[in-house]
Amino acid sequence: MARPKIALIGAGQIGGTLAHLAAMKELGDVVLFDIAEGTPQGKALDIAQSGPSEGFDAAMKGANDYADIAGADVCIVTAGVPRKPGMSRDDLLGINLKVMKSVGEGIAKHAPDAFVICITNPLDAMVWALREFSGLPREKVCGMAGVLDSARFRHFLSLEFGVSMRDVTAFVLGGHGDTMVPLTRYSTVAGIPLPDLVTMGWTTQEKLDAIVQRTRDGGAEIVGLLKTGSAFYAPATAAIEMAEAYLKDQKRVLPCAAWVDGAYGLNGMYVGVPTVIGAGGVEKVIDIALDGDEQAMFTKSVDAVNGLVAACKGIDGSLN
Ligand code: LMR
Repeated sequence: MARPKIALIGAGQIGGTLAHLAAMKELGDVVLFDIAEGTPQGKALDIAQSGPSEGFDAAMKGANDYADIAGADVCIVTAGVPRKPGMSRDDLLGINLKVMKSVGEGIAKHAPDAFVICITNPLDAMVWALREFSGLPREKVCGMAGVLDSARFRHFLSLEFGVSMRDVTAFVLGGHGDTMVPLTRYSTVAGIPLPDLVTMGWTTQEKLDAIVQRTRDGGAEIVGLLKTGSAFYAPATAAIEMAEAYLKDQKRVLPCAAWVDGAYGLNGMYVGVPTVIGAGGVEKVIDIALDGDEQAMFTKSVDAVNGLVAACKGIDGSLN
């Protein structure tokens, strides 16, 4: 049986990390695409040369022509520019929207059956635009952020409680921006919801509130430290987790920017929600019950995403 084909659109820091992870996990053969000549070829060759030591056989190819992604089973999109200190993700909207147009058209022409995972910011609006430009089925186009934001939340919680990250579950709902909604009621240590851990005296509400805020600021914290770009290891790992769930039909419950129509009272939009990812792409949106405060925060986040989508329509008339 032929190995799956994984196309990585964008050969920057995340693209290179994605290629290395996909090869090490033997998820399939990798095509690393970028418009910059030499960069994808150089990174692909470098990673291929780590194969003998690591022991993987995945083929690695660098490409500047969309024709090379032909027939890809998965496309992970990182093309576009990252933010720098002082910028918000939303500041990237105009420039990255143009990139999504050419990427969407390239995928539509050469890999229309792929499962597409977008990482480019501002995430939820770029997922929406990528879907509009590509015309792919909505359940086959999604965004990576919920897995990343939840992983950050889990990491900070494991530090607070001094326990393994494996015993911490966490959910982050909403758009991948400053209004994201880390859900303490649905996050647990060893199955015990966080509010109960406050009651038990294992932590305080103030400490949990600080962790929620640190999760919301997680991307900016790394941008502030790196100074020249944004996070790449954890975003790449999150996207690979989603790609693996699709390729292996794992039916993983993963929060991601998915098309929501009906659930959460929404009328068709991309926003971060818990989903089931398997061979059908985003196979299900899990409609969890929200209390008044959670709903208010989610609505604020939905409004922020809708504002960005409206801005996309204002910039590119073909999106109306
Ligand atoms: C992240 O959360 O790390 C990414 O969205 C990159 C960024 O600009 O914060």
